[in-house]
Amino acid sequence: MSTLSLRGIHKSFSGNQILKGISLDAGENEFIALVGPSGCGKSTLLRILAGLESADGGEIIVGERDLSPVPAADRNIAMVFQSYALYPHLTAAQNIAVPLVMRNLTRTQRLPLIGPLMPGQRKAIANIRRDVREMAVSLKIDHLMDRKPGQMSGGQRQRVALGRAMVRRPAVFLMDEPLSNLDANLRVHARGEIVDLHRRAGVPTIYVTHDQAEALSMADRVAVMIGGALRQLASPQVIYDDPAHVEVAKFIGQPRINLFASQVGPDAIVAIGDNRLRLAETMAPGAPVTIGIRPEFVTVNRSGQHGLPARLDRVEFLGSEIILYCRLDAIGETVIAKLSPSEGSGLAAGMPVRLEFAADRLFVFAEDGRRLPSLPVGADIALEKAHG
Ligand SMILES: Nc1ncnc2c1ncn2[C@@H]1O[C@H](COP(=O)(O)OP(=O)(O)OP(=O)(O)O)[C@@H](O)[C@H]1O
Ligand SMILES: [Mg+2]
Repeated sequence: MSTLSLRGIHKSFSGNQILKGISLDAGENEFIALVGPSGCGKSTLLRILAGLESADGGEIIVGERDLSPVPAADRNIAMVFQSYALYPHLTAAQNIAVPLVMRNLTRTQRLPLIGPLMPGQRKAIANIRRDVREMAVSLKIDHLMDRKPGQMSGGQRQRVALGRAMVRRPAVFLMDEPLSNLDANLRVHARGEIVDLHRRAGVPTIYVTHDQAEALSMADRVAVMIGGALRQLASPQVIYDDPAHVEVAKFIGQPRINLFASQVGPDAIVAIGDNRLRLAETMAPGAPVTIGIRPEFVTVNRSGQHGLPARLDRVEFLGSEIILYCRLDAIGETVIAKLSPSEGSGLAAGMPVRLEFAADRLFVFAEDGRRLPSLPVGADIALEKAHG
């Protein structure tokens, strides 16, 4: 059992800073999903961990051991790539056996004619066969063992690649978008299989994906990387309900969060529509802020005096939910609302509506993107009374 720690990993390519000091700790049995926009440095970070790329600075510690000086082959870190990278001329069984052959047989033991004459070779090969068979059974691919990659489906190749990575019982498991070549149904199925596999292996795992549903549903914790920096590392629920940065709030959530440019008023009050929020820290009146609310916390009044007047631009029916695109009369900005089909029944493009926001679900972000803690006005007084 081991843990994985990264300390201040830096990397530049021809003067461009790609990784700006990445630090994170993964527990013994922890599954961390690493997400972020394309080009933010996810694959670069995994390649550095695996030893396929060198860092400009920082430490990689597995258990007690600093891996920075250790070459890729000796790191005992397994990596699965999006492309699977199977050897096309080898069968599935031979592909899975590769890491064991490289580790457990000497150079002479591997030679075709002389190898079998070397002491211990038969025993070592029998052990490799046994380990490969066990792996194949646990991944339910034992019937495919004699096929070459060209004779397998994408999902089957992906399992062989997983088997090859897991068979040598690595200390750390890295996966770089391993499901992105599969169709939607197979992906959902494979998610569960990878989580199971991870549980059985019991090693720290970093799983790169650009699919936020994958990240939120599979991971113990989600690491959100934006522009080469880790913006937040937290449980899926905290990442979603309590984003630490505006970029995290924008990246996670489907449909995307609604954001409005605003300013701090007197007494550290930020207002939107009928809602007033008091910031926990004092800020100069006039300081620019961004207010955010997720679509499911926007409610639609079809009549009455409350809420911001808007017009319905577009209605999307998605079966279990309805997405509304509304344009605010006052500032012309689009607000997205997510309703249940019963809440949304009868709504049609062109209708005038009024929009209300759940006061305790509004986020405020500073100009630099950092989240500013705030409470709905009224709630702070209630809290004082409750504690008073
Ligand atoms: N060997 C290299 N030489 C120069 N630039 C590179 C090299 N490898 C990566 N980069 C650059 O580093 C940045 C990060 O690349 P990386 O592949 O890590 O992104 P990513 O987050 O994995 O993106 P994606 O989600 O598209 O896979 C990109 O701008 C890329 O062009
Ligand atoms: Mg990548």
